[in-house]
Amino acid sequence: MSTHATNTAKVTTQTLRQMKERGERICSLTAYDAAFARVLDEAGCDFILMGDSVGMVVQGHASTIPVTMDEIIYHTRMVARGASRALIMADMPFMSYHSANDCMHNAARLMKEGGAEMVKLEWGALQLDMVARLTECGIPVCAHLGLTPQAIFKMGSYRVQGRQHDTATRMIEDARALEAAGADMLLLECVPMALAEEITRAAKVPVIGIGAGPGVDGQILVLYDILDIAPGKRTRFSRNYMEGAGSIHDAIGNYVRDVKSGAFPTPDYAFT
Ligand code: KIV
Repeated sequence: MSTHATNTAKVTTQTLRQMKERGERICSLTAYDAAFARVLDEAGCDFILMGDSVGMVVQGHASTIPVTMDEIIYHTRMVARGASRALIMADMPFMSYHSANDCMHNAARLMKEGGAEMVKLEWGALQLDMVARLTECGIPVCAHLGLTPQAIFKMGSYRVQGRQHDTATRMIEDARALEAAGADMLLLECVPMALAEEITRAAKVPVIGIGAGPGVDGQILVLYDILDIAPGKRTRFSRNYMEGAGSIHDAIGNYVRDVKSGAFPTPDYAFT
């Protein structure tokens, strides 16, 4: 059974913060074009991410590294055209935000040319300064911690992050520092659920999880994973919502319903 959003008021960073304060779960998916953005918007996704996962699930690359600024802008523009209620977030692609000049220039392009309303960057020590600078310019930022796919060649494999005491402590400190620098949202990918819950409890800004368990403020998954059309093996933390669904609309509506009610994710889709 699919759901339809009844509240049509435009979602802003303030809306998401108020949802956290009220204990209302935030729901999101990635989208790469206007047609799917419209379906997600109508199903009640609160924000839509035009992620650099476009490189893997749409363009057929083995990682997100080859995705360019122009490609992100091209897809973000389509996504922004398709949605009217959901907040539009766009990924800053690999090496587009590692110097202050590049970061400001590229974030501005994402907003002016792409129609993004929040930019997401993957965490590294350099990014604290970038988050502070973007904040000063009035650009909403989501900081992506835990598994950061743009660092795949440094990490060696896609695996859970923060399992050791020292890495967990560092992630808690990083999350705190990023919020203090002005981040409007934190996104935790592949993080043990107890650690994700601790970071969420300490943060005033919404914490969104992907493979981070049920104890966060909201969930995001890669759209093509829940539709079971992503190449390769499905990740352990994702769920095939096409199973038992009559249509794509139903599958997406059921995902939104489950995130909002807390039925997804159960600890079966999380890490310890
Ligand atoms: O690009 C993407 O799809 C992402 C999600 C994994 C959150 O960053």
